[in-house]
Amino acid sequence: MRTDTAQPVRLSDYRAPDYLIEAVDLDIKLHLNATHVRARLSVRPNPLGRPGAPLVLDGDGLKAAMVLLDGVALDLGANALSPDRLTLSEPPRTAFELTIDTLVDPSANTQLMGLYRSGSAYCTQCEAEGFRRITYFLDRPDVLSVYTTRIEAEKAQAPVLLGNGNLVESGDITGSTRHYAIWHDPHPKPCYLFALVGGDLGSIHDRFTTTSGRNVELGIYVEHGKETRVAYAMDALKRCMRWDEEAFGREYDLDVFNIVAVSDFNMGAMENKGLNIFNDKYVLALPQTATDLDYAHIEGVIAHEYFHNWTGNRITCRDWFQLCLKEGLTVFRDQEFSSDQRSRPVKRIADVRTLRAAQFPEDSGPLAHNVRPETYLEINNFYTPTIYEKGAEVIRMLKALIGAEAFRKGMDLYFDRCDGMAATVEDFIACFAKVAGRDLTHFMRWYTQAGTPALSVSSDYDADAKTFTLTLAQSTAPTPGQPAKLPLVIPVALGLVGADGDLPLTTKAPDEDGGASAHECASGVFELTTASRRIVFHTVAERPAPSVLRGFSAPVKLDLDSNADDLLTLAERDSDLFNRWQAIQTLATRLLTTSVGAIRAGGLPKPDTRFAEALGGVLGAFASDPAFTAQAISLPTEADIAREIGRDVDLDAIHMARRELRRSVGAQLQPRLLSAYEALSNDAPYSPDARSAGARALRNAALDLICAGDARTGADIAMRQFQSAHNMTEQFGALAVLSMVAGDQREQALDAFYRTHASDPLVIDKWFALQALIPETETYERVRGLMEHHAFTYANPNRLRSLIGSFAANLTQFHAADGRGYDLIASVVMEIDSRNPQVAARLLGAFRTWRSMEAGRQAHAQLALKRVAATQGLSADVRDIVDRSLNLLTKERATDTLDSFRSRFSPRPAR
Ligand code: BES
Ligand code: ZN
Repeated sequence: MRTDTAQPVRLSDYRAPDYLIEAVDLDIKLHLNATHVRARLSVRPNPLGRPGAPLVLDGDGLKAAMVLLDGVALDLGANALSPDRLTLSEPPRTAFELTIDTLVDPSANTQLMGLYRSGSAYCTQCEAEGFRRITYFLDRPDVLSVYTTRIEAEKAQAPVLLGNGNLVESGDITGSTRHYAIWHDPHPKPCYLFALVGGDLGSIHDRFTTTSGRNVELGIYVEHGKETRVAYAMDALKRCMRWDEEAFGREYDLDVFNIVAVSDFNMGAMENKGLNIFNDKYVLALPQTATDLDYAHIEGVIAHEYFHNWTGNRITCRDWFQLCLKEGLTVFRDQEFSSDQRSRPVKRIADVRTLRAAQFPEDSGPLAHNVRPETYLEINNFYTPTIYEKGAEVIRMLKALIGAEAFRKGMDLYFDRCDGMAATVEDFIACFAKVAGRDLTHFMRWYTQAGTPALSVSSDYDADAKTFTLTLAQSTAPTPGQPAKLPLVIPVALGLVGADGDLPLTTKAPDEDGGASAHECASGVFELTTASRRIVFHTVAERPAPSVLRGFSAPVKLDLDSNADDLLTLAERDSDLFNRWQAIQTLATRLLTTSVGAIRAGGLPKPDTRFAEALGGVLGAFASDPAFTAQAISLPTEADIAREIGRDVDLDAIHMARRELRRSVGAQLQPRLLSAYEALSNDAPYSPDARSAGARALRNAALDLICAGDARTGADIAMRQFQSAHNMTEQFGALAVLSMVAGDQREQALDAFYRTHASDPLVIDKWFALQALIPETETYERVRGLMEHHAFTYANPNRLRSLIGSFAANLTQFHAADGRGYDLIASVVMEIDSRNPQVAARLLGAFRTWRSMEAGRQAHAQLALKRVAATQGLSADVRDIVDRSLNLLTKERATDTLDSFRSRFSPRPAR
C-alpha cells in the first residue's frame, strides 16, 4: 500500500515521456497465490523526450523480478529495483526490448486494484494506477501501446479466459490440466485500459451489426445461475450502441464487446477496451430483485462505459489532470442517451438533484477543486462529482452557448482531429472554437476556477413603459487556494411567463442599454460574461413571471427575487418543466428555511395551506406525466435545506421542519393522494420502461406523503402493498415507507424481507441500506448491531457502502449533535484503510460539509477528523482527504497560495 508520504503531482510539471512503449506482449499464468507475469515491452526513446534520460518504470508492491534487456539479464541492485520502481539509468539510445518477470498474489489483493480475485474469478482493475501492481511500466495515460495478452489458467478453475480486443488463439496445454487464450487489441491504448478475466462464469451472447456492416459479438459474463438476470443489460447495450451511431456518428471498432460482472468492485464499472468490467449491481436485474431505479442505473452505466470507447479510449487523456475530458464528457453523453430513451425533463431534474446533492457541497467545502485540478496527491481522490457532474455541466453549457448544430460539428472535429491521441482540455475546446468561429478563452475559466457561482436576479416591471428589466449579477466565494474569483461565462436560459403562457422576448440592439442580440432573443439563452448585466424587455403588456435558468442552463446557485405569486404561476404553467419543478422546490425551500428559524427560536412552524394547494394542483394533472409529478411532489431533502441555510446548520431543526411540512401537506391532500394511489394500481406484467416506472414512482411518492400525513393509514396501505407486491419497486417502496414508522410492523416487514431475499446479496444490500438511513437516534445502535450481523463484511465494497456508507448519508444521525455518528465513521475508516484505502477515503468524504454545521457539531467533527489525522501509517488516499478536510496544507501546497489565503489557514509543517 502506498502510504502517506506521497509527493504532489502538478499539471505545470507535465513533460512528455522520455520513452514510448509501442508494443506490450504479456504472458500471464494465473495461479491463486503466485501468478507469473512476463511482460515484453518494445521500448524506444521518445523524439519529444530528453535524449539519454533514465528509464523509470512504475511499480506498486511488486516482487521478485527478472529483467532482460534485449534478451540479456540485467543485474539490478536495490537502487535500480524496488517494489515501486525499476530504473535503467543508461538505456540504449535506440529501440530495445525489455522482458520483465513479476510474481503477484491475486488472492491477497484486498485493495481490488491490479489483479485480484472476486468470488471464484480472476479479474483486473487498472485505472487509475493499478497496472503498476501487475508489472513495471510507464503507468501514465500518454503512453499508448498495442497489447497482446496470453492468459493461461487451470481449465477447471477458469474455463473462461477474456482479454482486450479480439481473440486470436486458444487451446489446451497438452499433458496438463491447463489451457490458454491469446487476445490481441490492435488499438494502441494506455495501460489503465488493460484488463483480463479468468473464471468459471456463465454468459449470454448476442450480436450487433454496425451501420457500416461490422458484426460485433456481444457477451455478458456473470456468476453461474445469474444468466437469467442479464437480458436488460444486453438490451441496454444494443440500444446505446445504436444511439452513439445516430447521435454522435460513432461506431464500435472491434469484433467483440464483452462485459463481465463481478461482485467485488471498488467503483461502478470500468471501460477497459473491449472488456468492460462491472460491479454486478449495474448488470443484474429481474423485476423481483431490482427496482426501477436499478434498471435506470444499469442502462446509464452500461451506456457510460460503452461511450468511453470513443471518449476515453480512442481519444484518451494526456495526463490525469485532464480526467474531465473523458469523464465529464462521457457523463454528458450518458445523460443525453438516457434523456432520449426516457423523459428529458425528468432526467434533467434527477441529474440536477444529483449535482446539487453531491457536487455543490464539495464545491463549497474544503475539498473544492477545479474541474481540471492543478495538483494532486492521490489521483484516486479526484474521481469526484466536480470532475464528473460539473464536468458534464460545463459541456452542456458549451452546447447551450454555441447551439446544437455547432456542438455536433465540434464533436465531429474532435473525433477526427484527436483520434488515437492522448488529448487535453485545450485540444477539445479548440475544436469548438474553430467550428463556432468564437474565442472560448473566457469559457475555459470554468475549468480553472473552483466554486459554485451565485447568480442573483432581480426584476422590475414598468407598467407605463411596458418594459420588464432583469438585472443579473454573479459572484463566486473563495475556495481553498483561490481567494479571488473572476466572472464566468454563464448561459442563462430565460423565459417570461404571462397569463397565457410564454411572452415573446423583445429587446433593443446589444449596444443599447439593456439590449441583447437577436440570437439571444430567438434562442432564449442570454450570456452573462461580466459581474452584472441588465436586460430590458420591451412591449411587455403585463407583468410576467420570469422563468430564469430554464433547464438549469448553468451550474450556479440561483437567488431569485420572485415572489410567491410568480413562483405559483411558474409551477402552474411554465412551458419549461424543469422550472415548473424548480418553482415548487423554491416555494418549499422558502417555507422550510423560515420554519427552521422559527424552531431554533423556540417556536413552531406556521402551516401554509397555499403551498399544499399548489402541490394538489400538480397532483391533479398527474395522469399526463406521472414521472414528472412524482418529482414535483417530492419535497426538498434535508441536505437541500442544509445547503440553502449554508452555515450554522442544525440538522435536528431541519428534520423537524421538514417532517412538519410533510405532515401538513400529507394531511391536507390525503383524499387526493389516496385516489391517485388507487388510480395508479396496475396488474399488468412488470415492464421497466419509463412510463410504467413513472407510474410506480408516483404511486410510491403518494404513499410516502399519505404516511407522512397519517402514519396509521399510510402504514396499513404500505403493509398491504408490501405483502402483495409483484415486483421489487413496489415491495421496496412499501418497505421504505414502513421503515419510517417505528414499531412492530416495521420490524416484521424487515424480517420478512430478509428471509425472502437472504440468498441475494444485491437485495440484502438494500436491506442494510434502508435500516442505516432511518432518521431516528436508535439507528446508531441498529447499525452497530448490523455490523455484527453474519451477513455483514468489510471485505465487500457494496456491503460496506450499503451499511456504513448509508449511515454516513443519514444526515441527522451521522451529524448527531453528540458526535457519535462522526466517531463511528472515523473508526470504520481507520479499520478498513489498510485493507482498501480507496473505499476508506471515499467514506471519509462524508465529512466534506463539516464546517457548515453549528459549533457543537463542528467541534465533534473536527475531533474525529483529528483522530484519523493522528493515525500512523495512513494510506496516501486517506491522508490526502483528512488533511484537506482539516485544511492542513502541506508546505508544498501552501507555497502555491496567495498571502491573503495563507493568513487564513495555518500551513502544516512538511512531513
Ligand atoms: N473510468 C471509470 C471507472 C473508474 C473510476 C476507475 C475511478 C478508476 C477509478 C468509469 O468510467 C466510471 O466513471 N464509472 C462510474 C460510473 C459512471 C456511470 C459514472 C463509477 O464507477 O462510479
Ligand atoms: Zn467514466
